[in-house]
Amino acid sequence: MVRALGLLLPRPPRLSSLSRTRSSPLLASLHHSTAASLAPAPAAARLVESPLGRRLGLRFVSVGTPGLGLRRRSVMTKAVAMGSLSEVGLTKTAAAVVPEVEVKAVEVEIGKWTGDLLVVGVFEGSAGKGEGGKFENAELAALDERVGGLLSDIATEEDFGGKPGQVTVHRIAGCGFKRVQLVGLGKVEKATATTKVWKTLGESLGAEAKKAQAGSAAVVVVDAGSLSEDVKHAAVTTITAGAVLGSFEDMRFKSEFKKPLLKSLELLGLGSGEKFDGLISQAVKQSTGVILAKQLVNAPPNVLIPSVMASEAEAIAAAHGDVMTCQILEKEECEKLGMGAYLGVSAASTNPPKFIHMRYSPAGAVTTKLAIVGKGLTFDSGGYNLKTGPGCMIELMKFDMGGAAAVLGCAKAIAAIKPEGVEVNFIVAACENMISGGGMRPGDILTASNGKTIEVNNTDAEGRLTLADALVYASNLKVDKIVDLATLTGACIIALGNEIGGMFTPSDELAEELVAASKKGGEKFWRMPMEDSYWEMMKSNIADMVNTGGRPGGSITASLFLKHFVDENIPWAHLDIAGPVWKDKMGGTGFAVATLVEWVVKHKTTS
Ligand code: BES
Ligand code: MN
Ligand code: ZN
Repeated sequence: MVRALGLLLPRPPRLSSLSRTRSSPLLASLHHSTAASLAPAPAAARLVESPLGRRLGLRFVSVGTPGLGLRRRSVMTKAVAMGSLSEVGLTKTAAAVVPEVEVKAVEVEIGKWTGDLLVVGVFEGSAGKGEGGKFENAELAALDERVGGLLSDIATEEDFGGKPGQVTVHRIAGCGFKRVQLVGLGKVEKATATTKVWKTLGESLGAEAKKAQAGSAAVVVVDAGSLSEDVKHAAVTTITAGAVLGSFEDMRFKSEFKKPLLKSLELLGLGSGEKFDGLISQAVKQSTGVILAKQLVNAPPNVLIPSVMASEAEAIAAAHGDVMTCQILEKEECEKLGMGAYLGVSAASTNPPKFIHMRYSPAGAVTTKLAIVGKGLTFDSGGYNLKTGPGCMIELMKFDMGGAAAVLGCAKAIAAIKPEGVEVNFIVAACENMISGGGMRPGDILTASNGKTIEVNNTDAEGRLTLADALVYASNLKVDKIVDLATLTGACIIALGNEIGGMFTPSDELAEELVAASKKGGEKFWRMPMEDSYWEMMKSNIADMVNTGGRPGGSITASLFLKHFVDENIPWAHLDIAGPVWKDKMGGTGFAVATLVEWVVKHKTTS
């Protein structure tokens, strides 16, 4: 059997006879995509790079047809700041405002700090009061004295006892700082078992700084002296990330907005010196990756089309030319590689697919090679199995590239952190799942690049089709481990809700590594079973497999499908992030970037 463009041919010819295949009326399934490739590329987001622009940190983007059914606009050239998302069509995207906070760990006493916002983390055990309603804890008592006893009064009036989730903020005059925020951290043993409490503390600081337009802030943890060094390290890392992310708000698509003013953050009394500076620096770099992932997920699907995602990947590589390369495979090259499953999904779209492969290569010897693969559906309409009815979330399906966003976010962070000894391949088969006369039909049979045939019994199970070819590609790189991330199934949201990602892997060791990394990163994954017997649901009468097995165990059958496209000698894990990718009111969460960065950094060698 020979494959060509996803079509199953009863007998040779080989790949070189693609055109004959496509013109066969009997096998016409995807031939429209050829016509699309011959037509001029859609005007949206044609990118023209200029060496001068690069030097200036600018990219010049030609902005063409709005693609909104409006009259063609003549192509104009605009300068877009490097690293910000390009402008496409008629949507005006303002330059991104990213927090630039200088974070320092210092040994300043709680009573001496001056600035705009002082945040005080209080464990339940430290909030006790003695006679006269004053704090018994010496640190809290000193601070209380500085503000004329206001804090103990507030704690009494508002019943503040350091319980988790308790937060109270007050404007204070004449004390050397403008605002004080008390944040409950809960019981010390419970709070320090994970990094969640530190994340909340940082986020609550960031959010308050944003709200109150604070330029300088400090955070202090009462009784920090009793914490172990490890807990202090985790605290510094996670408070930093939380604060940077908490003060970020995506305002690119608003016509008016307030800029975040937070410029300096001091972490008081948790320790100081080289170790702490290193941790802070890594946390800040990681946060820039999380912010990029949020921006990518938030960008509407008329702005973030596959070619724009590819430009973003190129921009990351260009900004870190010492360690990062980026290769974009065009549709024709994917055809040559026989990526019929991926191209089947993208067939209906006017915007061409872009297969992104970035590679991080550190200076010096490489001892481990990793591949991270992300689902990159810039929009998922469902295709002919159109997403309809309440709860289908079609209007949110711009987030269907959340896996790809995590991959690019991780790439950006790793390029800045520069861990030694580990090579990382970042892979995204970016495309849209749309509807047109040239689109993939329910019932079509596609052939993936490893020769396996798939009967498409549901065009809305498209993510696994794109991942199939991306995983074959990753396997061919002969890497040591592969992790993929995808907003793959609604079933995973039903199983685990919006705060926990699903983890599917045949490898106990990789599962352990990823759970450890996610704990460090302050994220949650839960390992799910890959029940082999469920493969029965994925059998096809006519092809090697179908692409959906019905509702029962929907995320399990999806992961069993993916397994067929991974070299079985390479440890692999699939992370379903359909739930945590998005939060109501907030939007993109940047979920999984922290876990990925921690996982990659864990492989570094020290010279
Ligand atoms: N992108 C969706 C999964 C999804 C759905 C993510 C809702 C977040 C919220 C995926 O492509 C999809 O449509 N999956 C189908 C699979 C089904 C047809 C077997 C689903 O989950 O309904
Ligand atoms: Mn879908
Ligand atoms: Zn999808």
